[in-house]
Amino acid sequence: MSTHIGAKKGQIADVVLLPGDPLRAAWLAKKFLKAPETVHDVRGMPCYTGFRHCFRALPGQLACTKKLISIQSSGMGMPSLGIYVEELARDFGVKKIIRLGTCGALQEKINLRDIIIAMGACSDSASNIHRFGPAMSFAPIADPALYRDAVLQAEDRGLPFHTGNVFATDDFYDHSEPPRWQKFARYGALAVEMETAKLYTLAAYYGIQALSLLVVSDHLAREEKPLTSEERVTCCSDIAMIALSIVA
Ligand code: HPA
Repeated sequence: MSTHIGAKKGQIADVVLLPGDPLRAAWLAKKFLKAPETVHDVRGMPCYTGFRHCFRALPGQLACTKKLISIQSSGMGMPSLGIYVEELARDFGVKKIIRLGTCGALQEKINLRDIIIAMGACSDSASNIHRFGPAMSFAPIADPALYRDAVLQAEDRGLPFHTGNVFATDDFYDHSEPPRWQKFARYGALAVEMETAKLYTLAAYYGIQALSLLVVSDHLAREEKPLTSEERVTCCSDIAMIALSIVA
């Protein structure tokens, strides 16, 4: 057990899918895991562990193994995600974390429900200033192998996807004039969300693999009606399939 994760050692798989929303975690566990068990529910931020069948072609036969997968919700924003990622990596020995999240599009060419595979993350968070000092900056990037496999999966499945930088902000409601996302959009950032810079930084610190797969749930660069809260729970089906195929 750790401070915020009430599971016992061994109850969390070495691969964790990390949606922000606890309802999305429950929905994903029910839809994609076999025999999912709730291994803790501290603060109503549950973790589910179940398995997936993995099939491998061997000479003359199809071998089937069970791959354990956990799904933990991270909450919203980098401080909350940081707690879960830190404890998963440090206290539970988790080796791969794939965030399944939503984001706001920053470029006109991107459509609602498109997928963003985040190569890297800019941020307005002070977190890495505390970590590295004001004169040094760290470039948080995705694990190259997970990133490559996700791109291949998205291509194979014919899904609409974009790859590039995202902007991880501390403020969902940004009152700056002009809003800070505009500067990052000018430098090519595809979307705004609130978690990936912290995920990639902590993954580098702990030497684990991490990737953010995001679905566009709202648009900042053109007038669009955002997805509803119900749609935001279920819109992650395709990115969940990408994540599961690259880890199982
Ligand atoms: N801003 C910040 N985070 C988000 C957004 C947004 O528009 N959409 C989904 N996550």
